[in-house]
Amino acid sequence: MAHSYLVYSDKRFAENALKELGGKPVPFAGKFFITKSSASKAKTLEKAKRSTFTEWAAPIVGTAKLGKSYSQLIKTIAKLLKKDDTFTIEVINSRDISGTNAKSIEVLLGTELEKKGFVADLRNPSLFLYVILQKGEATICALSASDDAPKVLDVFRADKKIDDKLNRAQLKLKDAFERFPVPKKIGTALDLGSAPGGWAAYLLKKGMRVVAVDNALLEYDSISAKAVIAAKKQYLAQTKKLASKFSTKPNVVNINGIPKDFRLLHIRLRAGELKAKQLTKIGGVDMLTIDMNIYPRDCAGIANGLADSLNKGACLIMTIKLMTPNVDKHIKNVEKTLSKKYTSRIIKKLPHNRMELTLFAVKK
Ligand SMILES: C[S@@+](CC[C@H](N)C(=O)[O-])C[C@H]1O[C@@H](n2cnc3c(N)ncnc32)[C@H](O)[C@@H]1O
Repeated sequence: MAHSYLVYSDKRFAENALKELGGKPVPFAGKFFITKSSASKAKTLEKAKRSTFTEWAAPIVGTAKLGKSYSQLIKTIAKLLKKDDTFTIEVINSRDISGTNAKSIEVLLGTELEKKGFVADLRNPSLFLYVILQKGEATICALSASDDAPKVLDVFRADKKIDDKLNRAQLKLKDAFERFPVPKKIGTALDLGSAPGGWAAYLLKKGMRVVAVDNALLEYDSISAKAVIAAKKQYLAQTKKLASKFSTKPNVVNINGIPKDFRLLHIRLRAGELKAKQLTKIGGVDMLTIDMNIYPRDCAGIANGLADSLNKGACLIMTIKLMTPNVDKHIKNVEKTLSKKYTSRIIKKLPHNRMELTLFAVKK
């Protein structure tokens, strides 16, 4: 029997997502649509996860009329919960009710359900409930802890809970680590288009040794590891002067004399100038990350050019900047170029991407 799923995509890519999964739009802030599927829940969620433009999907498990109070909604949720479930609720309030924000409705629903004997667990719930409020009606969706699917719906609201001041660029890479099959242990990462250093800082935090490539300087003082900067001979004096202004005093060396023992090496070059020989000297690369603001096909060309210098099984994470609105063409160009050297390719609009997509692939 076909079951209905609520699907969420970024407004900018709603039409692409709709085309990909099929379904009918619903007027929840213009970013949701309903798709019907007769396949199993696991298969349907997997399809949404593998799709390029869908960010989140969950089965619709109930609806409730909204009157002056939330009593019918609470009753409906109570019927859905099993005795042993622990739950968390995320509310998206698409009605225009001033002063009643999503957070306070979550607290109200949680409190009322606890009064009925159910147990809320915000950290490790067995059931994730999602309540989308529209005028007059609430749609309720649910995912189990065991469902292999993104659990957070409104990532931007969730970000506010993060103590660590990760910048937006880092959040994009964090999304990629969460949603793609990135190997657990990675030795050295090569990060192209690195400045101001958000990704480099994140990779370092993950325990990697990082080679950052960008002509621009990084925010060395905000990165946990002391940096070594390698510059061409003609830029050595200038780079030393610039580096001396940072309180962490990065060590500046000639590009021909790169030391082996570094945690963060910043090579001041354009990515296209990087030589395979330099990578061999560094001791091999297990992960290539690219976040350069250049045409996607040029990024893919650079990734291809460096592929032979990467260690076997190395993975690639690359943002595809949609410089022009022809999304399909950019995807096709990247796919065509990368298919020669990389396999297991996944392209996905990640929650923190704006006019861009992120690609994951593995060196052949
Ligand atoms: C969006 S920023 C990267 C942000 C970075 N991922 C972070 O987390 O801080 C893009 C960077 O790409 C760099 N870039 C553009 N073209 C490049 C090229 N050909 N080689 C190296 N870097 C390049 C720019 O200098 C810029 O610093």
